[in-house]
Amino acid sequence: MPQKRLIVRSQKALRTRRKDWFCAGITTAFVPTMGALHEGHLTLVRLAKKKADRVIVSIFVNPTQFAPGEDLDAYPRTEKEDVAMLKAEGVDIVYIPSPDAMYNAHHATSVNVGGVADGLETDHRPTFFDGVALVVTKLFHHVQPDIAIFGEKDYQQLATIRRLVKDLDMPIKIIGAPIARDDFGLALSSRNKYFDESGLTLARQLNRIMRDCAKTITHGSEIDIATKACVKALIEAGFDSVDYVSVADSKTLEILTENTANKAMRLLIAAHCKGVRLIDNCAIVAPKIQAV
Ligand code: PAF
Repeated sequence: MPQKRLIVRSQKALRTRRKDWFCAGITTAFVPTMGALHEGHLTLVRLAKKKADRVIVSIFVNPTQFAPGEDLDAYPRTEKEDVAMLKAEGVDIVYIPSPDAMYNAHHATSVNVGGVADGLETDHRPTFFDGVALVVTKLFHHVQPDIAIFGEKDYQQLATIRRLVKDLDMPIKIIGAPIARDDFGLALSSRNKYFDESGLTLARQLNRIMRDCAKTITHGSEIDIATKACVKALIEAGFDSVDYVSVADSKTLEILTENTANKAMRLLIAAHCKGVRLIDNCAIVAPKIQAV
């Protein structure tokens, strides 16, 4: 039997391959990416392989989720290396649509998710989730997966996709994968490629400072005091600025101001380190608040 091609660039070719799988009752897991792959992406791919018969990974640097002045042009593009990595992982299809095929010249449709997508990232990147929701909706239509995997590093993005899929009745199971970190705790990200040695050393402080903040809240500190101390610690460590350090309800992402054992809490941070914007988050172990 002739070997099926790993790289698929057109929607038409992708649909043909998918149709064969549907007919044979084969399940598909999908991992959308913007390329510049690293070990973090590969953990998503490995999880995808465990969850379905076939795995499709997309590589598309989505222009609609970059605001003017962000790093769209500079975003690392490493297609050859990415495809080699995915081949080694045994991925079935690498879907690489072109920007023109994704967005026709007259494109005029938007996808706006409210609720969990409001606040946090949206306060600083107002159009980001519109771009993500739009491209993910389109990719879901092209790929028609049974399952899609997203990393918990982009925690608000994961919540937004869950909302999108539920609200638009898409028959896709969304699975969140734990954050992959380097040996020093830095969450793996394609943007880590921008750092020189000193930038990397500083970036690695983020996880330690975030964990200290989460621990303080677990030990009963007021959220406001703990998050302000966290901002101060980041600036003193050498971060350029901090967009937010916030505690939110893990499910609804409602911002919490009271330390309570009744809700699962998530600490979310966005900070600028040597010109690179980093995001990270962690669960807060429920505080042991004494009953009075
Ligand atoms: O998380 C990402 O890499 C992107 O936001 C995604 C989901 C691939 C959409 O472009």
